[in-house]
Parts: sequence; structure tokens; C-alpha cells
Amino acid sequence: MKFKLLSTLLALLILPAIVFGIDEQLSLSNHVTGLNRTGDNSATGESNSSLHLSALQSDTYTVLQHSRFPNHRVRVKKTLFCDPTVNVYTGYLDVDAGAKHLFFYFFESRGDPDKDDVMMWINGGPGCSSAMGLLMELGPCNIDMNSTSVNGTLWNPHSWNQAANVFFLDQPVGVGFSYADYGETIQTTEEAAKNVHAFITIFFETFTQFGGRPLHLAGESYGGRYLPVFASEIYDQNLVARREGRQQLNLKSIIIGNGNTGISSLYLGRYEIECGTAALEKPVQSITNCVRMKMALPRCQQRMQESCFDMFDSINCRAAVTFCDSEISAGMWASGRNVYDISKMCVGNELCYAEVSAIKEYLDIPATRKLLGVETSNNFTSCSPEVGANFGIHMDKYNTPTHLHVAGLLDRGVRVLIYAGTYDWQCNWISNKMWVEQLEWSGSDNYNKIPWREWTVRGRVAGEVKATPLLTFATVRGAGHMVPHDKPEEALAMIKKWLQNESL
Ligand SMILES: *[C@@H]1O[C@H](CO)[C@@H](O)[C@H](O)[C@H]1NC(C)=O
Ligand SMILES: *[C@@H]1O[C@H](CO)[C@@H](O)[C@H](O)[C@H]1NC(C)=O
Ligand SMILES: *[C@@H]1O[C@H](CO)[C@@H](O)[C@H](O)[C@H]1NC(C)=O
Ligand SMILES: *[C@@H]1O[C@H](CO)[C@@H](O)[C@H](O)[C@H]1NC(C)=O
Ligand SMILES: *[C@@H]1O[C@H](CO)[C@@H](O)[C@H](O)[C@H]1NC(C)=O
Repeated sequence: MKFKLLSTLLALLILPAIVFGIDEQLSLSNHVTGLNRTGDNSATGESNSSLHLSALQSDTYTVLQHSRFPNHRVRVKKTLFCDPTVNVYTGYLDVDAGAKHLFFYFFESRGDPDKDDVMMWINGGPGCSSAMGLLMELGPCNIDMNSTSVNGTLWNPHSWNQAANVFFLDQPVGVGFSYADYGETIQTTEEAAKNVHAFITIFFETFTQFGGRPLHLAGESYGGRYLPVFASEIYDQNLVARREGRQQLNLKSIIIGNGNTGISSLYLGRYEIECGTAALEKPVQSITNCVRMKMALPRCQQRMQESCFDMFDSINCRAAVTFCDSEISAGMWASGRNVYDISKMCVGNELCYAEVSAIKEYLDIPATRKLLGVETSNNFTSCSPEVGANFGIHMDKYNTPTHLHVAGLLDRGVRVLIYAGTYDWQCNWISNKMWVEQLEWSGSDNYNKIPWREWTVRGRVAGEVKATPLLTFATVRGAGHMVPHDKPEEALAMIKKWLQNESL
């Protein structure tokens, strides 16, 4: 079934050429004048030149096709999932000649959907589903851990769709409910960026009433690698579009929570979190382990500098990372603490949070699948090990210094918000603070001159902040890796101000 057509497979061998062609074509269409509405029961065969979202059905997918791009398809349905107070849509947008199907959840804003900005949220991994961000962090509903709800979820008053139209994207293919017809995989962030750019282009073609709206890319963890690269791809493709007189994506900012961006300071930061007082008042790690770590740090830093950053060499870089992990990270993993929140012990079966398994169970219930219109019968996986392994083979985390993308974006006027929960060890705030301080960009002198100050929410101190017009760094005190999970009110207050371009 999967490999039925040899000719299709052969076509895939020349995929790069096709990808390029599709990207070009899609961006060529400024309007949806070519959209044909067929519906799943395409017997009616009716065509409509201006489909409005209100016409979508909740029981079946409406299939949209661009008459100018016959092999490109969008399946979208309205759904009663998660937030009964707004319009909610789920579906698949197909990219790469229609062979890759990227699943998304789209929640209109609880404020003014006709005026509010559009935000994309992605989780990290690489390979983790954005359903986790949706259902245990910033989404309009959270997984119900206490079985008090009749529908498995609880309405989240601190959802980020209080302030923006938000879509959650499962990417790359192989993650969450996104899939590929012929088992194609994505191996690097740069490759993923092409699909994400195509997705967002198609997204605005489909949801035309949001066209031209300010766009923010948000995410956490490995999102610190993804988002600067995705945003750079969008920026660069916009240049091409502008030259050719086509519509551009209105990219305004990237928002990275506890990101994996400046790898060079990662291990030093981890040491400060567990052996210093950067997170808690007293170190949590044993003296013996801390001494061993301290002794290994210079060698770890030097080896990574030489073979990962100065001149990337995959064999030597991998050896350096293996050394750093065994000397500096092993103690934390062995401690039984939650590596995403050192104030807690690790619980549950996955990623130290009981919610992760509960989300998986909820998304495997046939009724949930029906509500979402999910077409695969595969069980849900929170983080795809295959995708993680593919990125690992290419050392995607190390082979391109992503902070260079951040500097490039800032120098071109794209705003950047870096926030970090202070209890996270994995992608800790110290490491983030260090790479941001060392960042070479036109506003760096100004950034480094500005003093730290506290920021507050309803009179309570929420963390420390440093802000220039384009770049803001904010800590969130007492939050772990998943800031909106731990400090929902503070996280929403921060996002609201960011979107309004107000200082924290
Ligand atoms: C789309 O509709 C146009 C007429 O509006 C028709 O000519 C064309 O064949 C249709 N394309 C598809 C794929 O149905
Ligand atoms: C096209 O869609 C609009 C909005 O849903 C609807 O009002 C109109 O009747 C449709 N026209 C045709 C020809 O189906
Ligand atoms: C669920 O129950 C636990 C224990 O009773 C409680 O601490 C927690 O706040 C509850 N969670 C929610 C979301 O109500
Ligand atoms: C699910 O039930 C809870 C109450 O148990 C309610 O607050 C929420 O709005 C419901 N969600 C949906 C999507 O109906
Ligand atoms: C897989 O999903 C099905 C429902 O589609 C469910 O009945 C089954 O328990 C799931 N298996 C696991 C291991 O989660």
C-alpha cells in the first residue's frame, strides 16, 4: 500500500527540485481565488471561489484545493475540541508535492480574532509533539489529571489565545499526528525549515481572514534551535517574494522559552544550577560530584570549542559531547530529580511529568481522534525516537551555531524574546543568559549596558528582565523548563505585554 507506485518513488528521488518548485508556486498565489471546495463527500462537486471559515463542517473534513496547484491539498475541519468559547480548527496541510501531511490545531483568539496577532507554537525534542505544549502548558485547555471533567480536559484561563490566534504544529513529519506517505524523514532543522515555511504560507492561504496579520513564532527547548532557523528561512523567502512582487509573511518576533540555542555555555550553566545557587538556595548535588564536574569543565569547554564551534568536526564534536555528558550530566540524571525542574523529583513514566502519559492516553481514545479528525491508527507518541535519532545522526544540535541566526534576525528588525524558568537544568537560564550576553549584533553594547530589574505581575516579583527595543531576556522565578505549566499567570502576562510591544 505504502510503496505501491514505483514511479512515485522515483519522483521522490528528485524531490528537492519539486520542493523548490512548489515553494515558488505557492508563494505566487496571493489570494485564494483559486480555492475549490469539494468536501469529503465530493459528490456535490460544488466549487466556491471565496470559502469562509464559518462554512466549515465539524463532522467531516472540507478539502481545499488550489486550482493552480492540483497536487496540493488542505484538509480542515471545525471541531468542538478543547475550547468551546472560540472557533477551533484542526487538520492537515500538505507540503512537498502533497506527500507530507503536517497536523495542526488552530484556536482563534479569545480577545479579538479579527485584530489579534497570529502565533505558532512548537515543542522541542527534536521529535516532541506540540500537543504537550497545548495540553499541559499554554493551550486553551489542559489535560484533566483528577478526572473531574466529563470531557478529559479543563478550560485554561491562562491560555495564550487570550491574546493571540494560536496554532500548534506537529513538525517535522513523524512527530505527533504528522505523517508522510512514503516514509520520508527530515534530518536537520534547515530541512524542517523549508516545510515549516511552506506550511505557514499555506496556512495564510487557507485562513485568508488572517492574511498579513503580525506573526510570532514561539516554542521552547529544542525550539531554541528550530525557531531562529525557521524565522531566518521566512525572512529570506520574504526577500524573494518581495523581489517578485508577491505577498510576504508578516514575521514580527520569535519567542523562545528555556531554549537550546547557545550550546557553548550549556554545561557551565548546568554546573551552576546543581552545584551553585543559580536555582535553589542550596546546591542539590553532592560535593564529590560537584568537584568532579568542576575539574572536568575546562576540558569539556575546550574540546567543544575546538571541535564543535570553532570548526565543526562530527567525530571529534561527538567525542567532546560524550565526555561532557558523562562527566558533567551523569550525576544529575542519576539523582532522580526532575531535570526540567530541579526543585522536584522525577515522576511518571515519561519526561518526569505524569501529564505526559495522560496526554498520550487521551489522544489515543477513539472519540478524541474523531473530534480531531486524526487519520492515522498509530498510537500517539509524545516524542518520536526516530525523529530524535535522525537529527542526532547529523548532530543537528551542534553543527550550526544557531545564535548566529538570532543575531541576523535582530539586525534585520525581528524582535526576540528569550525567557527562562530558573529551576530548569536541561536548558538552563544561566546558559541562556551567557549566550545572549555574548551575542554579536548591532544592539549588543546597549543590551549589556542596561541593568537588570525585577518584573512583577499583580505586585508580585515574577523574575528579572533586561530589555532593549528588539531583544528582551526575562527569567521566570520558580518555574522549570515548562514555564506556562508552572507559572501560567506570569507566562500569560509576559506574552500579553510582548505582543503589545510593552516592556515587562
Ligand atoms: C476548480 O474549479 C474550477 C472552476 O471554478 C474548475 O475549472 C476546476 O476544474 C476545478 N478544479 C478542481 C481540481 O476541482
Ligand atoms: C460560497 O460560500 C459562501 C460562504 O460560505 C456562501 O455564502 C455561498 O453561497 C457559496 N457560493 C456557492 C456558489 O456555493
Ligand atoms: C488535582 O488534585 C491534586 C491533589 O488533590 C491537587 O493538588 C491539584 O491541585 C489538582 N489539580 C487540579 C488541576 O485541580
Ligand atoms: C470540558 O469540561 C469542562 C468541565 O468539566 C469544561 O470547563 C470545558 O469547557 C469542557 N470542554 C469542552 C471542549 O467542552
Ligand atoms: C493504542 O491505541 C488504542 C486506541 O486507538 C488503545 O485502545 C490502546 O490501548 C493503545 N495502546 C497503548 C499501548 O497505548
